[in-house]
Amino acid sequence: MNDQPQTTLIQRLLSTVDTMDACARLAREDPESVVAVTIAEVAGRAALYPGPCSPVTVQFDVDVPGAGRIGYLLTVGPDGQQARPGRVDDPWVCVRTDLPALVRDVFGPASPRTGADREVVMKDEPGPAEYRPDDPWLVQRDEATRAAYQVLRACGPYQGDLTTLAMHFGSDKWGGHWYTPHYERHLGRYRDQPVTVLEIGIGGYHDPAAGGASLRMWKHYFHRGMVYGLDVYDKSPLDEPRLTTIRGDQADPAFLADLAARYGPFDIVIDDGSHVSSHVITAFTALFPHVRPGGTYVVEDLHTSYWPEWGGNGTDLADPTTSVGFLKTLADGLHHRDRGHAGSPGPSYTDQNVTGIHLYHNLALVEKGLNAEQANAAWRPRYDPMRDMPAPQRVNGE
Ligand SMILES: C[S@@+](CC[C@H](N)C(=O)[O-])C[C@H]1O[C@@H](n2cnc3c(N)ncnc32)[C@H](O)[C@@H]1O
Repeated sequence: MNDQPQTTLIQRLLSTVDTMDACARLAREDPESVVAVTIAEVAGRAALYPGPCSPVTVQFDVDVPGAGRIGYLLTVGPDGQQARPGRVDDPWVCVRTDLPALVRDVFGPASPRTGADREVVMKDEPGPAEYRPDDPWLVQRDEATRAAYQVLRACGPYQGDLTTLAMHFGSDKWGGHWYTPHYERHLGRYRDQPVTVLEIGIGGYHDPAAGGASLRMWKHYFHRGMVYGLDVYDKSPLDEPRLTTIRGDQADPAFLADLAARYGPFDIVIDDGSHVSSHVITAFTALFPHVRPGGTYVVEDLHTSYWPEWGGNGTDLADPTTSVGFLKTLADGLHHRDRGHAGSPGPSYTDQNVTGIHLYHNLALVEKGLNAEQANAAWRPRYDPMRDMPAPQRVNGE
């Protein structure tokens, strides 16, 4: 399990952006590194937006209060985005900003005024005397304008919906399956929080460079989140800022315990791995204790719970060794005080810490919290009060 070198700095930025004072303090500590990780994040977000058809280099002039100005270059275009320290002579686009404000806009919660204090200066050069649409100066100026819009949008969080992001990155969470609206309904409340997300199953199987669609989707949806992906295959070429891949087996409880100690606790865990029932149950049992109170554990592709080839059972629907059968036991656990504990040693961990189970076609979301509601009081009648009344006196003829 490898950590990316900049992970710690990004985590500190994510957790200290709540006040401008905190941003300013961090910016003064190590301005070069803070500028580097902040503009790397902008570069990653720029890929979400349309940009110029040929490469345009945007210069950032970043003022560090009390410590001068740092120059950084971000080239955007059809071949992607590259960021590096430096300056160019007479750039077409120059973004002037101060570092605490840039850090707040990039790593802080979404705000309606994100970017409002950012100044963009275009090359101050006279254009052609006569208008010709194919004039090279005008073409270049249009490209520069597109680059400016792309980069300015990327200086704040992505504001679109999860389904659009799934389609953008090619995740089958919309299209192959129809999960994203359910996810948005249940996970939308974390969107602006510095959450820790773990998804089991990165995609692309044995090809190290393939897959990662849903991890990228989560990274941009949870714009302040740290996203971890687990797969049995090495997926390290997919690592990028705020997105770390881990190699390991979801069916190995000792490995999962190490993983949780290292990267947890988690706000959200999503199981989109092997979909073998026994693996789903092993992973849930090992990782659910490492979900924060208020967090959510998700299991996808529950259809395999009915397929014997995946360790499922399509005939005995209460079989607790299948994924759905196991989820049904959580529903009984939610009511453990109402059903009593006859024949068992008392409430289990999940009895006490599952507060909600939401089931959709092929998808379950389990909410974590303190399941502390008391059972129905003993003095409440446990018989039908109208049971022995003569028929005419019963309400509504029941
Ligand atoms: C359906 S793909 C994941 C797709 C991805 N979550 C997405 O939505 O883009 C399933 C992945 O789970 C991985 N996998 C299979 N068995 C696993 C196991 N026992 N532990 C961890 N990962 C496993 C596979 O290698 C594969 O890459």
